[in-house]
Amino acid sequence: MQDRVATLQKKTAEAQLGGGQKRIDAQHKKGKLTARERIHFLLDENSFEELGMMVTHRSTNFGLDKEIYLGDGVVTGYGKINGRLVYVFSQDFTVLGGSLAEAHAEKICRVMDLAMKNGAPVIGLNDSGGARIQEGVVSLGAYADIFYRNVQASGVVPQISAIMGPCAGGAVYSPALTDFIMMVENTSYMFVTGPNVVKTVTHEEVSSEELGGASTHSTKSGVTHFTAENDIDCLKKIRTLLSYMPQNCEEEAPKLSYEVSNETRSELDQIIPANPNQPYDMHDVITRVIDESSWFEVHKDYAENIITGFARIAGRSIGIVANQPAYLAGVLDIKSSSKGARFVRFCDAFNIPLLVFEDVPGFLPGTDQEWNGIISNGAKLLYAFSEATVPRVTVITRKAYGGAYDVMNSKHIGADMNYAWPTAEIAVMGAKGAAEIIFKKEISESANPESKWKEKEAEYAELFANPYSAAERGYIDEVILPSQTREKLIRAFAMLENKVDSMPKKKHSNMPL
Ligand code: HXC
Repeated sequence: MQDRVATLQKKTAEAQLGGGQKRIDAQHKKGKLTARERIHFLLDENSFEELGMMVTHRSTNFGLDKEIYLGDGVVTGYGKINGRLVYVFSQDFTVLGGSLAEAHAEKICRVMDLAMKNGAPVIGLNDSGGARIQEGVVSLGAYADIFYRNVQASGVVPQISAIMGPCAGGAVYSPALTDFIMMVENTSYMFVTGPNVVKTVTHEEVSSEELGGASTHSTKSGVTHFTAENDIDCLKKIRTLLSYMPQNCEEEAPKLSYEVSNETRSELDQIIPANPNQPYDMHDVITRVIDESSWFEVHKDYAENIITGFARIAGRSIGIVANQPAYLAGVLDIKSSSKGARFVRFCDAFNIPLLVFEDVPGFLPGTDQEWNGIISNGAKLLYAFSEATVPRVTVITRKAYGGAYDVMNSKHIGADMNYAWPTAEIAVMGAKGAAEIIFKKEISESANPESKWKEKEAEYAELFANPYSAAERGYIDEVILPSQTREKLIRAFAMLENKVDSMPKKKHSNMPL
């Protein structure tokens, strides 16, 4: 028995050493943690149970038989985050560059299968040179086995990908199929084809960082939802992100205890500028309405004209979608519509109620938008809200113009409650533009067209630049003072807590993509 125990200890130590101390040192030198250190910082203390530690690769091509690595370059298992079960895989760059091959992928598939059967999130910590070149097509098939499971698990359990090193070629498509991507600044990158191929094909010279680093994907492409300063920051953020989510689509997100007290927020009464064209920061509204320190923004630096993020109201997890008047006047365009739609669909899939703050002058005009498909992209947001069955509440703070009024969670497309502040303007368009069109003849024939235009603008504004026409029709449930907003929302979300709604029976919908 003694010998057997010694063998077990030896093999365990060997597996834990991965590709060896030299490679571990190299990993640290780059500012990266090892696969095991990452799991240690991600999970609750002593909660990790490893699976498949002794699994090895099977290929003997190109000298692969010379060195056998226990675990085949990925550490997999389950553990807890804030006391709740999660499944995790963490690629070990010290073993053959964390490259993905048959056995490596089987280990990932195993935790994904367990996650789906047992209803708990999957977290992938990616740090890999991609398909293991020596294993040829087997490693391509192995990737596809993972992609398939990503799609099967989509909407069943939350899937989170952290990119903590290279992620190139087709390998990017597994993270892309998951719910959220987090990239570590300066040490991670994602691209389908790297700088060398780019140079050969298009003659463009670009660095890895510029082509697919964290800052590129958080601002230009929107591929990543979050960036982190370093590995520890990334792992902490994953823990926080999960705190807003349920374990699976059958459950509700955890609720923190909360005692209702004085919920009036008088500062909100001063927030809307007197001039309707003057911007203000919608974050100032959001942070005053939600529970203190509960804001967790998603896609913070991408398409900033719409704000998306998680928060809590009276301890309940909610998803917020808000127009941002301080950026492009809060207009809806291609990027902001896709960003909003993706977030709405995540919240709906995982039973997270939606709160919308609306101040939108409409869709962005122009050839760039039209030629690049604002029609089908704008439709995504309309579609996502229309099919969402979670509790949905809207607060119109100022402008709700044109099609954007319909799109931004109006009652016509299934919102449960719509509130408006007295500063709301609910109309087909702004008074100036409207007057120009409908009183064109009168204005041009007038002795003083400028003052006629002003007069007609005032006439239109009097009728529509307010919330009352909409309230008379019942499109708005209540016109409320900004200071009352938090209290009203606490009550509304409590009232909607047991909402049951469903879509008509169908195989699946056909969202405009
Ligand atoms: C096998 C690999 C590997 C791979 C790296 N290694 N990538 N082994 N298959 N794909 C090994 C290296 O040989 C090296 O082994 C060790 O990992 C560390 O790699 P280095 O190059 O020394 O590290 P670094 O300088 O940090 O560069 C990292 C890298 C580079 C940028 C990722 O290794 C690289 O470009 N790798 C190839 C990337 C690639 O083309 N992959 C295939 C993509 S196609 P030793 O023994 O020397 O330490 C793809 C298709 C997926 O993934 C399709 C899905 C549909």
